[in-house]
Amino acid sequence: MSTTQPQPMIQIKNLYKIFGPKDKSFLQAVKDGESKDDLLARTGHTLGLKDINLDVYPGEIFVIMGLSGSGKSTLIRHFNRLIDPSEGEIIVDGSDVMKLSDKELREFRRHKMSMVFQRFGLLPHKTVIDNVAYGLQIQGMEKAKRLDTAKSWIKPLV
Ligand SMILES: Nc1ncnc2c1ncn2[C@@H]1O[C@H](COP(=O)(O)OP(=O)(O)OP(=O)(O)O)[C@@H](O)[C@H]1O
Ligand SMILES: [Mg+2]
Repeated sequence: MSTTQPQPMIQIKNLYKIFGPKDKSFLQAVKDGESKDDLLARTGHTLGLKDINLDVYPGEIFVIMGLSGSGKSTLIRHFNRLIDPSEGEIIVDGSDVMKLSDKELREFRRHKMSMVFQRFGLLPHKTVIDNVAYGLQIQGMEKAKRLDTAKSWIKPLV
């Protein structure tokens, strides 16, 4: 009896990110083993990610851990294309994020890929409940329904 393997929801393949205007021209040096410190000293470019590969499956809780500056935020910003890679592929639910048009990317960010920012994530001119409901507002959900949903999310558990 054969069982079908679940497909990954997020796939990252051979992802590299070098920060700086000539990022692509220093890829080979990084692949040849030049260190982050040496690359910075020689070129003024910062190595953010080096050959990252991962698969995240539906329903999986996937934790990315590492020292400060090791590239966690940089990696996660590639998932919704807040950052473009220097090289590599980002596949979400079967689509290559780098091939989405502007319109498709907006839809993708509204409905498929969310992120909670590390800092400055709140809108100070909005109330707490409007902050909680903000994602639903962006999705176009009408006010009463989104406020109800937002309230249910922050309802105390006890
Ligand atoms: N826009 C940028 N321009 C230049 N270098 C950057 C940029 N963003 C991040 N970096 C550099 O890339 C590396 C990875 O940074 P990143 O913020 O992804 O680390 P992190 O693991 O999220 O750290 P922390 O735990 O402090 O949040 C660091 O050396 C950082 O200085
Ligand atoms: Mg971070």
